[in-house]
Amino acid sequence: MTHQIKSFKEYQKIYKNSVRHPEKFWAKQAKTFKWMKPWKKVLSGGFEEADVRWFEGGQLNITENCLDRHLKDKANDVALIWEPNDPSQAFKTYTYKELYSEVCRCANMLKSNGIKKGDRVCFYMPMVAELTIGVLACARIGAIHSVVFAGFSANALADRIKDCSCKMVICSDYNNRGNKSIAVKEIVDEAVAKDCSSVETVIVYKASNTKVKMKRGRDKWWHKEIEGKRKTCKPAKMNSEDVLFILYTSGSTGKPKGVVHTCGGYMVYTCYSFKNVFQYQQGDVYWCSADIGWITGHSYIIYGPLLAGAKTLMFEGVPTFPDAGRFWHICEKHKVNQFYTAPTAIRALMAQGDDWPSHYDLNSLKVLGTVGEPINEEAWNWYKEKIGKNTLPIVDTWFQTETAGIMISGLGGLSPQKATYAGLPLPGIQLCLLNSKGKEIKGNGKEGLLCIKYPWPSMIRTTYGDHARCKEVYFSSFKNKYFTGDGARRDKKGMYRIIGRVDDVINVSGHRMGTAEIENAINEHPNVIESAVVGYPHKIKGEGIYAYVILNKNKMDANIDTKKFNSSLLKVVTKEIGPIAKPDKIQIVTGLPKTRSGKIMRRILRKIAAGEAKNIGDVSTLLNPDVVKKVIRGASKILVNN
Ligand code: WTA
Repeated sequence: MTHQIKSFKEYQKIYKNSVRHPEKFWAKQAKTFKWMKPWKKVLSGGFEEADVRWFEGGQLNITENCLDRHLKDKANDVALIWEPNDPSQAFKTYTYKELYSEVCRCANMLKSNGIKKGDRVCFYMPMVAELTIGVLACARIGAIHSVVFAGFSANALADRIKDCSCKMVICSDYNNRGNKSIAVKEIVDEAVAKDCSSVETVIVYKASNTKVKMKRGRDKWWHKEIEGKRKTCKPAKMNSEDVLFILYTSGSTGKPKGVVHTCGGYMVYTCYSFKNVFQYQQGDVYWCSADIGWITGHSYIIYGPLLAGAKTLMFEGVPTFPDAGRFWHICEKHKVNQFYTAPTAIRALMAQGDDWPSHYDLNSLKVLGTVGEPINEEAWNWYKEKIGKNTLPIVDTWFQTETAGIMISGLGGLSPQKATYAGLPLPGIQLCLLNSKGKEIKGNGKEGLLCIKYPWPSMIRTTYGDHARCKEVYFSSFKNKYFTGDGARRDKKGMYRIIGRVDDVINVSGHRMGTAEIENAINEHPNVIESAVVGYPHKIKGEGIYAYVILNKNKMDANIDTKKFNSSLLKVVTKEIGPIAKPDKIQIVTGLPKTRSGKIMRRILRKIAAGEAKNIGDVSTLLNPDVVKKVIRGASKILVNN
């Protein structure tokens, strides 16, 4: 298994070496896994053509490393704990042996339904244990999984199914979340009806007793299909650079793109980062509260922990059901040792008062983690004091769908921590700060655009079906650098603080969204002729969505019923993307500030949305400077949704 660093001094030594001899360093980590065939070359290609390859010539199966490899000494140890939405319902555990058998059975079910190596399988599922099983079953036979977060709408799901022509969709009948029950299968039916001709089979996992319609010839029940399937399944031989999965994420322009990750490098990096960041000790119970629909769930609920032979917990529900003590109840109930969540959840729970955590025994906790968005000082301090009792280390972990693994973070309690700072780069990760002209900003105590100078094993390989886009978005801004899209500050000790996105991507409750994507959805409303979306500081969500909309003339003059308009706009956005993209604030405007070349001046709109209209600066060079005043004046009459 990959090396676990034991002291800060050791980290410093290893870091230095990893940068001096990256290939040697990663080869050493990679050797700790089971390979069906050894690799010929550790690293090939480069950033220039976006054609980086790791461990070429090697063959492996990631599930053999997640499961089979542990059967010798951990067959009866718990691998997966599943905690249901409803706490009065029994939780489930799977030992490594049981998880192995379930994954093999599911793999055989996929095969018997015509799924072969290289086929794409879409998952649109709540956080049930079968999602983990299904994902691993795909990897077992070399099928490519594309997990779509179950909060997306039918339209968004259809786009993702079509983009990579999925042959199968695996879903549940219903999604039990808090006291709601969401009709998942209906959404899938609606999505597949939108020209998803590649879909041959829909497998439905039964999570409720309510009836659903099944389409003959296409829809099949999970429990019926898996019945009697063999508990063994030979792992497919995968080349290091064969695709393991696709995960869609938003960028500043266009539709979400399918980020592609491959088998070898992803395996090595997720295991290494998991073990070191969380300082996981054998026998510990580790819980990441993310959804598997995002990269955090892929890398740090499923793959990283299982590769490391850990006990990983997955939770079906929400932090506030049946009450705001649920997270802490789960920590107490399962004696969680490492707890990993998002700042937005911390802020939401903080707002419910200090009392909730005090009712539970949190003594098992050893390391607290956070991910997904910048953590503000208040939330960091609350987490440290109320949950960590001022003694536990907090690992703020920075990474992206594209990096697949944690790039910046403290190592459990080993490395220094500082509120709002993610900290130092992991071994093998070479960061730099650039100015907008691409010149490296050397020295500490500086701020700039965060870039990565050297390949790392789990980096993005391509955007599905459009390699030019991958090259353009990540590797063309600055020569020979991967550009993250984030701004960062480096303090005197070399620790990094992530400031946030510098592009048109916003981060709402840790969910990453493109403003263009939301604008496109808004523009689908029949009364909207143009819109502009920006983020603004939001107490709980980190960033909220602020939409400026221009209505068509008739509507504008006719004193429209703004309440009605507001709710119909929210409906449209929910239909196009999903409830997570609903604007928090809507301002009806008559014009948008534009440059002479016709580009919307978002900088100005962001200031107005943040209530900082006073600091807008000179607007005289705009095409329509008068509009700014009008927008500022109108900002007091906005429609607020929550
Ligand atoms: C942001 C989520 C500050 C960042 C893992 C990044 C963070 C984007 C942190 C990626 C953090 C993630 N501190 N910001 N610890 N972690 N981000 O692809 O802006 O959903 O670029 O991956 O989230 O979002 P994604």
